[in-house]
Amino acid sequence: MMSALIGDDFDAERLVDGFRAPVLPRERPTVEELADADRRMRVWQSAETELWKTGSETHKRETCRMFLATFNPYRPSVLDWPKLEPQVLARIVALPVWDIAVQTEGKARLRMAAYARTVADPQMRAALALNAWEESRHREVLSRMVAAYGIPLVSEAPYALPRDAEWAYLVTGYSECVDSFFAFGLFEVARRSGLFPPELIETFEPVIQEETRHILLFANWVAWHRARLSWWRRIGFELKVVRVWSFLAWERIGLARSLDADGNEHRQDNNFTVSGAQSVAATDIDLRELLEICLRENDRRFSGYDSRLLRPTTMPAIVRIALRFLPRRNRGK
Ligand SMILES: [Fe+2]
Ligand SMILES: [Fe+2]
Repeated sequence: MMSALIGDDFDAERLVDGFRAPVLPRERPTVEELADADRRMRVWQSAETELWKTGSETHKRETCRMFLATFNPYRPSVLDWPKLEPQVLARIVALPVWDIAVQTEGKARLRMAAYARTVADPQMRAALALNAWEESRHREVLSRMVAAYGIPLVSEAPYALPRDAEWAYLVTGYSECVDSFFAFGLFEVARRSGLFPPELIETFEPVIQEETRHILLFANWVAWHRARLSWWRRIGFELKVVRVWSFLAWERIGLARSLDADGNEHRQDNNFTVSGAQSVAATDIDLRELLEICLRENDRRFSGYDSRLLRPTTMPAIVRIALRFLPRRNRGK
């Protein structure tokens, strides 16, 4: 078992047997090519005419096909970082998300690759390895943006391959389900606010849609994996899933701490999604409004994919229940 610590030399091809990283076009894409790639990543319909059984070969094959067919071949180095007005720049630099965002992508790529290595099925292994590779590309996008705008980051501790790859993948997958759900809403709030230049919003749009694909893949992987387990393994797996959700709840209550490469302790702001809405909104926004936007955006972002593919359900279900209890704001006063 490789126990190497991995920093900037992450290489999904080296980590995952048989995986070939996608070859990205050298040239800057034309407007038509961009629009085409954008549409292809959002809309996918399987050629299968029948319903399929969860856990079946067809279910797995179509899940993996969706993931490959919706791949967007953008190259981080050709992205434009528009010049920002001083107050916009200050607002972006002050968002308390950059450290955790870069570190989250760094961890996610390694955890996904670590789990992909253990998957016997070549199609699923390739899909998960591509997901890991895309997380690495997200990290590159963020690193380039941080460098372009002079955002200071804390030093990163090297990432170690997890000992329990399945546990680490479940933590990463369910975290993405929670974080993406809120990111969908926050991104829409930021877009509507007009506080950020449209070019910057456009640069991040494919990244957000990519997270939609990631959690779509994850939801179908979980269902496929679960359906193929014997009953005694299934019990162990369900217990693990419960432990993962408890861990995520504990982490989000704000108890998690992390150490940087110099051993300094940092409290991670895992709650930015809720507490930070105000910093990307132009007007006062309350929790109810934010959650309604998150739900709507969640439905919209998934709407282009074959309806036979399973969607993540936990966050939308929790939020729908929460909305029943949250008071409506009286807009007239
Ligand atoms: Fe990511
Ligand atoms: Fe992701």
